[in-house]
Amino acid sequence: MGQQITFQKADQLKVKPEPDNLGFGQYFTDYMFEMDYAADKGWYNPRIVPYGPVKLDPAATIFHYGQEVFEGLKAYRAEDGRVFLFRPDRNMKRMNQSCARLDIPEIDEKFVIQAIKKLVALEADWIPVKPGQSLYIRPFIIGTEPFLGVHPSGTYKLFIILSPVGSYFNHSIDPVRIYVEDEYVRAVRGGVGFAKTSGNYAASLKAQSKAEELGFDQVLWLDGVEHKYIEEVGSMNIFFRIGGEVWTPELNGSILPGVTRDSVLRLLKEWDIPVRERKISVKKLFKKAEKQQLKEVFGTGTAAVISPVGFLKWEDRVIKVSDGKTGKLSKKLYDALTGIQTGRLKDKFGWTQEVKIREEEKKEPEETKEPVTE
Ligand code: COI
Repeated sequence: MGQQITFQKADQLKVKPEPDNLGFGQYFTDYMFEMDYAADKGWYNPRIVPYGPVKLDPAATIFHYGQEVFEGLKAYRAEDGRVFLFRPDRNMKRMNQSCARLDIPEIDEKFVIQAIKKLVALEADWIPVKPGQSLYIRPFIIGTEPFLGVHPSGTYKLFIILSPVGSYFNHSIDPVRIYVEDEYVRAVRGGVGFAKTSGNYAASLKAQSKAEELGFDQVLWLDGVEHKYIEEVGSMNIFFRIGGEVWTPELNGSILPGVTRDSVLRLLKEWDIPVRERKISVKKLFKKAEKQQLKEVFGTGTAAVISPVGFLKWEDRVIKVSDGKTGKLSKKLYDALTGIQTGRLKDKFGWTQEVKIREEEKKEPEETKEPVTE
């Protein structure tokens, strides 16, 4: 694509949030990236502009039929001040897979990574530095054409917004409580379950509220046909340490192919821990737990990182895993992953990409009326 990214200066910069109470996705930086698509132009007019509300026609397709895809990745600050992205190529590849399913025109993956790096370099002062903190990057695409027929939009917008974050859950690496949902389902094969699209999350909200009312953090979804087989949790993929093996549901078309999931599989292989990607029935899992063979449960995700699970409730049965504490494999994976992400450990897999923060990029660039060359 080789396009030039223009820059529009903000009138005023924001006061940054207190670093100790970031939570997840509550604060947004001073700038965002925006780009448009039209059939006769392709993706065009890439720009960095002040973060702020977006004006759209009320008939825009996004509001009616939810034609949207999104991604989630993070920028990490190393102890020596360098800044890294973790596997942005995987996120962009998945974004195009989601686009294909939602009938959205594909993006130039390399160009969008370049745009992410430029925006992160500009906003580097927003990257929080405490352990477990990072700058969450949310690229997303929406259909913008104003009409009410059920057809794919002819025009789109791609945005990238940034949010300094701490832990996704309120209780950091402390184990989460999971409720096995047996009434509602998230996705079915042939649907959009493997895509990162808003509809999957909209469909999850009712069950999420129910789980919260019952004192649980998130929902564990079962398959949409038989309500028997484990799929994934609200914001993460799920793993079980059973005896000397680790089990995780196989990617079957209705499960999100998580980047952290894939990284965990690679680490486990590296450590010679036998892994089985397979169908896992909830009944079998609870049987394993009764026989004291279920040693550990943890979720994986960009936002969730490695989240140990302490309690699982299914129908009227509740199991306590690892005595409600963080298991040793969860801890080892958390340390290895965050170590690589923040440059503390050697990245033998080539997963991280450094964002070059040149001195001149630390300062705000001059405002451009005409495009500026990368
Ligand atoms: C992520 O882990 O990046 C996600 O997108 C999950 C969730 C916050 C929707």
